[in-house]
Amino acid sequence: MLLNHVSTVFTAYLWQQTSFHDVVALEIETFWGALASQRLSWISPFNTVQNCNFSQGKIKWFEGGKLNVSVNCLDRHVHTCPERVALIWERDEPGTEVKFTYRELLELTCRLGNLLKRLGVRRGDCVTLYMPSCPLAVASMLACARIGAVHNVVFAGFSAEALADRIRDTQSSTVITVNQGVRGGKVIDLKRTVDQAVQNCPSVQQVLVAMRTENSVAMTDRDVPLEEYVFSYQDGDVFGCMADIGWITGHSYGVYGPLCNGGTTVLFESTPVYPDPGRYWETVQRLGISQFYGAPTAIRLLLKYGDEWVQKYDRSCLKTLGSVGEPINREAWEWYHRVVGGGRCPVIDTWWQTETGGICIAPRPSDPDAEIIPGMAMRPFYGIKPALLDAKGEVLHAHDSTGALCISMAWPGMARTIHNDHQRFIETYFQPYPGYFFTGDGAYCSKEGYYQIVGRLDDVINVSGHRLGTAELEDVVVCTIKCVYVFVVLKKGVEVQEDVLAQQLREMVSRNIAKYASPDYIQVVGRLPKTRSGKIMRRVLRKVVERKTDDLGDLSTLDDSEAVHEVIRGHQRLHGGSKRE
Ligand code: WTA
Repeated sequence: MLLNHVSTVFTAYLWQQTSFHDVVALEIETFWGALASQRLSWISPFNTVQNCNFSQGKIKWFEGGKLNVSVNCLDRHVHTCPERVALIWERDEPGTEVKFTYRELLELTCRLGNLLKRLGVRRGDCVTLYMPSCPLAVASMLACARIGAVHNVVFAGFSAEALADRIRDTQSSTVITVNQGVRGGKVIDLKRTVDQAVQNCPSVQQVLVAMRTENSVAMTDRDVPLEEYVFSYQDGDVFGCMADIGWITGHSYGVYGPLCNGGTTVLFESTPVYPDPGRYWETVQRLGISQFYGAPTAIRLLLKYGDEWVQKYDRSCLKTLGSVGEPINREAWEWYHRVVGGGRCPVIDTWWQTETGGICIAPRPSDPDAEIIPGMAMRPFYGIKPALLDAKGEVLHAHDSTGALCISMAWPGMARTIHNDHQRFIETYFQPYPGYFFTGDGAYCSKEGYYQIVGRLDDVINVSGHRLGTAELEDVVVCTIKCVYVFVVLKKGVEVQEDVLAQQLREMVSRNIAKYASPDYIQVVGRLPKTRSGKIMRRVLRKVVERKTDDLGDLSTLDDSEAVHEVIRGHQRLHGGSKRE
């Protein structure tokens, strides 16, 4: 669990390096081994760098070694630079940021760790956090790590049922939450949701409650109030990862990566459009953010509001612009580069997933002048060996081909198991292509050997031997028609001759979509259901298209669930009530 974040540490560190040549010559084991010894403090040193076997689903790194990630994130830096700012909490209320130094964060973490121990939390126990992005959430993660407990951070947008599932699954005795969350000016009763959830969770003995707002909430015998703490101020180097702490990007690049490297990290509690669409750039100017890491969906949204919202603010502090979470279409990439970065900052499309722990494919690190192609993740990170496999499980050696994206060698940050279900781990990631870790994504490898993600493989269709991914089609539609969001549903078994369809889709891909914009292919049905992390809920939309709307599953993570009903109504309007499409 702790080691899962180790490669993140390296990625975050290497992201800031200019020359990558120093490391490429080294062998992978030497590379990870040297980084692990140099960049981390070990309680006891490791004996072997790696001992992994994909066909058995065995992933072991740094055996014999022992470290504490909270010591690596905090104590090391408190020794050398205690007054450096570790966290900048960009609160929902604009202009009210709060800074936390490494010393303060260590103190808070130790106090919380001691409290957890006093409350009976032991090594190996799991503590569930249901909190917005805030310093106390970071301190809670680090306090768990410090005392050897496991943290289970549940995104604070999840419903009571979804939260209860996760508490039960981990058998948590302790939950940490806040009285209320605030997001985009709206107050959300988080403690109330926890109260509902724990009714069905017999394992929970105590709920620690911090105060985010001044409104008191009903407390029960189970609840332990947490007092406020005092903050101070100091300048530092600023890493601005906009992801919520409840998602993997918030864990790896909001907390562990920057802190292990002694950086200053911004915890963004708000939304990109609150109080207005200039929020990100006003924050960049005010906090002096140097690396801005955001999601394509937010970039597309802001693009719609126009350049003035960006140009109003001084963005000269920005050095690097990152993107993660879904494919970034060329139009959004170019706007991000030209308008936000003023053409000066490299835009880095980073591909990775929760299972990989950290960035796996990204244009940097590489030579400072190495080319960056819009909308492409391009270069495998050092130690990551991607392979594209075809439907028969054969490796596609030739460049200029599309296949299932797999990774052929282990790396330290990768997942080691699925909690309570190791068999499912093996079946999902190692059985589809024996000997390889299967990512579930499709990718294209260009003639130059650069990678481009084409979307989740379940969404890719194969028409007359030509694989078409949703990302590819969505990119073309956005470039051709004036709209911000596009969602392509690829219906299988459409009543057109296969080769005609293939031909038409290929034409679409070559930017000629307008000609074929017949209602058969392009339909405007309403706003898109997006999660609060910005991912479009493809599962839901596919069910709408398949008319399985009785069973849409858990919608609690959606930003606005009314959008789903709008889409269902729009779809019915276009197709009538009949079952036949
Ligand atoms: C998708 C988020 C295209 C992909 C870190 C992956 C991307 C899934 C990109 C993981 C990218 C992430 N280009 N697609 N740069 N980054 N994805 O677990 O389908 O929330 O498998 O981790 O998001 O999502 P997760």
